[in-house]
Amino acid sequence: MNNQLLETTKILIQDHPTQLSVYANVASFVYGALPELNWVGFYLNDGKRLILGPFMGKPATTEIPFESGVCGECVRKKETVYVPDVHLHPDHIACDAASESELVIPMLSKGKLIGVLDIDSPKKHRFDQETITTLEKIVEELVNVVDNIPFFK
Ligand code: SME
Repeated sequence: MNNQLLETTKILIQDHPTQLSVYANVASFVYGALPELNWVGFYLNDGKRLILGPFMGKPATTEIPFESGVCGECVRKKETVYVPDVHLHPDHIACDAASESELVIPMLSKGKLIGVLDIDSPKKHRFDQETITTLEKIVEELVNVVDNIPFFK
């Protein structure tokens, strides 16, 4: 399942004209391919804060300061942050009351954080290590692709 997810994503992200379309299709694909998710999307680094990018799920907060939220923690640490129970995380920003666990993966391009992939689940402890590793590989592949195409034509 996880291997198939990665391999299908690699095919999906080829031949996109813009970064925007890659982000949109990956958000949609992951949201549909993995069960028990209620939000999948990108927050992009504009140099001062994170800005809401393409996503699937309910409308969400449009800006996240680097000091705030699970996403901000991911930016500061430049590493994946997994929160098995968001109610136990002191700094979690609730966009959808249904969210119970959250995974945020940094998008690192030559060491620079260009954004994060944020995934919410309505189930506590939703993500096992194998799924986390697969999603990290998906992000790595995605960054390799978006590094070579314009954000928007
Ligand atoms: N929960 C995130 C905010 C974004 S929503 O989950 C879509 C956070 O704490 O940074």
